[in-house]
Amino acid sequence: MQDVLDIQVVPLSPACGAEIRGVDLTKPLSRETVEAIRDAWDKHLVLVFRGQNVTQEQQLTFASYFGDLGSRKKAPEPLRARAEGAQQDHEKVLLVSNIKENGVPIGAFGEGEFWFHIDSGYSATPYRYTFLYALELPSTGGNTMFSNMYKAYDAVPEALKRKLTGKRALHIHEYNRARQADASGDISNIPHYYHPVFVTHPGTGNKTLFVDRLMTTALEGFDPAEGAAILDQLYDIGERREFIYEHVWQHGDFLMWDNRCTIHARTDFPKEQRRLLRRCTVEGDLLRE
Ligand code: SIN
Repeated sequence: MQDVLDIQVVPLSPACGAEIRGVDLTKPLSRETVEAIRDAWDKHLVLVFRGQNVTQEQQLTFASYFGDLGSRKKAPEPLRARAEGAQQDHEKVLLVSNIKENGVPIGAFGEGEFWFHIDSGYSATPYRYTFLYALELPSTGGNTMFSNMYKAYDAVPEALKRKLTGKRALHIHEYNRARQADASGDISNIPHYYHPVFVTHPGTGNKTLFVDRLMTTALEGFDPAEGAAILDQLYDIGERREFIYEHVWQHGDFLMWDNRCTIHARTDFPKEQRRLLRRCTVEGDLLRE
């Protein structure tokens, strides 16, 4: 059994992110150890464990210390080709990969750049947490960037905070990675949901900015042009360099992040190189301002 005394928390950037040392994720963890990890998580938002060698079952067991495991969301039929993968054979696991076998992708969301987004932010109850484990990596790029949305909230000008208090934004998922979803037509068959622009994190009680460039496409109750201009301003605040920790992956890295107070993006990487990560999640709750 892992002992809480073994744990070291090493901050990775002034924005967010900390490396947790002294924890072997293949071992059962005591309640105290899980609490210590949770405390570090609330403080640093993104945790990194290096040099891990975890099976799928061990990854799921570890994630389940933090809540009910999330089920992989099924894309609507017309978009399914972009979101599935031939080796997605566990409903709690998503393979993020660009690898193709016999011309068929084994996983999803695998290629190229990925704009800032919130995992399943388009659903009524976005995943609370995401856990991502690196199995195969390109020689360069494919970094995952995380932005601290508590800091983004704090940076929203006071007048804009007043204007947006009580307002909701539309989040929509078209299964693109580097193009904003188009909410101008009939979206009844595309996954979407309205969330408060500002969300109170249920664990810390602090406010976060809950919008992202990829999937947040309109402000409810605003003239479309005015809403778009305000959203542009909010995306830019959320993507300020000083709020971002950029993770350069190494083999054996295991990351976990909180989707209520971070957004994340991926940098481009060489198409011909293989990248494979195993993702699981913890189910979320309705979000409140
Ligand atoms: C994701 O957004 O869930 C995947 C991130 C990555 O591929 O680095």
